Amino acid sequence: MANVGIIGHGVVGSGVADILWNSREVLARRAGETIELQRVCDLRDFPAAPYADRMTKDAEQIYAADDIDIVVECMGGKGAAYRFVKAALERGKHVVTSNKELIADCGEELERIAQEKGVYLRYEASCGGGIPVIKPIEEDLAANRITRVAGILNGTTNYILTRMREGGVSFDAALKEAQQKGYAEADPSADVLGWDARRKICILAHVAFGTPLADSAIRTEGIDRLTREDMLYARELGRSVKLLAEAERTGFGWRACVTPAMLPDSHPLACVSDVFNAVLVHGDKVDDVMFYGRGAGTAPTASAVCGDVLDIVRCPRKRGERPDGAALPALPSFTRQLRLFVRVRTARTPESEVQVLAAFPGARLVQIEGEAFADEFALVTALGQEDALLDAAEQLAQALPCGAPIRYLTL
Ligand code: HSE
Repeated sequence: MANVGIIGHGVVGSGVADILWNSREVLARRAGETIELQRVCDLRDFPAAPYADRMTKDAEQIYAADDIDIVVECMGGKGAAYRFVKAALERGKHVVTSNKELIADCGEELERIAQEKGVYLRYEASCGGGIPVIKPIEEDLAANRITRVAGILNGTTNYILTRMREGGVSFDAALKEAQQKGYAEADPSADVLGWDARRKICILAHVAFGTPLADSAIRTEGIDRLTREDMLYARELGRSVKLLAEAERTGFGWRACVTPAMLPDSHPLACVSDVFNAVLVHGDKVDDVMFYGRGAGTAPTASAVCGDVLDIVRCPRKRGERPDGAALPALPSFTRQLRLFVRVRTARTPESEVQVLAAFPGARLVQIEGEAFADEFALVTALGQEDALLDAAEQLAQALPCGAPIRYLTL
């Protein structure tokens, strides 16, 4: 029998408790032994929970208790969660966590402790909610040298962008909906500004390349400057706007970024809408593989946590090593070739056209019919180096009112 203690009975923790309590027979059959929900810790009271008599307000009764084998951490944040997880590992307990901030920032240290103690630290739910992606990269794709991981890794922003495009809903209203559905972080600026997606791409890149990525070297832009009009231009161009997280490994180092991007509607990532996430992984043998599913929410995320619990109980794996990427440096600047989309918020006249084309020779101009767009137009630049194009967009914005540039990618 394996005894589980959960720390944190919020959006994810309550879902995990619910599965462990209500699906215990199924899980026992699959694990080959009973998995007991032994204790749940939260500072709040949950008198209606069927396991109310197993609730405690004292986390020590979980991370330090002799009758707990597996600690499930679903508190989020780094302060207390870090202390509890570290203490649990040091006491020889397996840990399963959904906490991306903790794993992105302290994962290396915690994994080292887990290794020393001969226990498991598992965090499938930290990236992509219910989508199995970490274990498939570690196991099923182990024969590959993985050179690229790219995807839509934040459900809240994808939900907002979808609602803005398809429902004509304002940014604020869509964010509120996402919060009500339990998708958003406690402080949703982590979603909206791209930090949550950055944490997830850090974790995935570490798993895939063996390289810890430094936050400071990851260009990160959120969706806070995007407008409903940007979505309509994208539609006119046969494209969709997504918050894209990417990490790439070359022979010289790695580079990663999180930025809004306009993708052709025919691209598999462009059809990923609502709270869904998707991750594209490129391996030298398998080529492209895509993982798709619900990226946030109680039941999907709890599903991933319970998968980790089951995996620990059923099949303690021989600990292998990560791909050897530890020595890879961050490439100094993002030198990729791409196009930019820029919305110019002034009437299209011979003079404004000349100004725009002087800044971006060879740009394609885009005009949407209708009164609402009479006093503006947009452009898609010729292919150029990313930083040079962004500089040119900034300079143009000093002369003419412009929207935030959006990468116009082919992938
Ligand atoms: N706030 C996160 C998201 C939750 O929207 O994707 C899942 O990590």
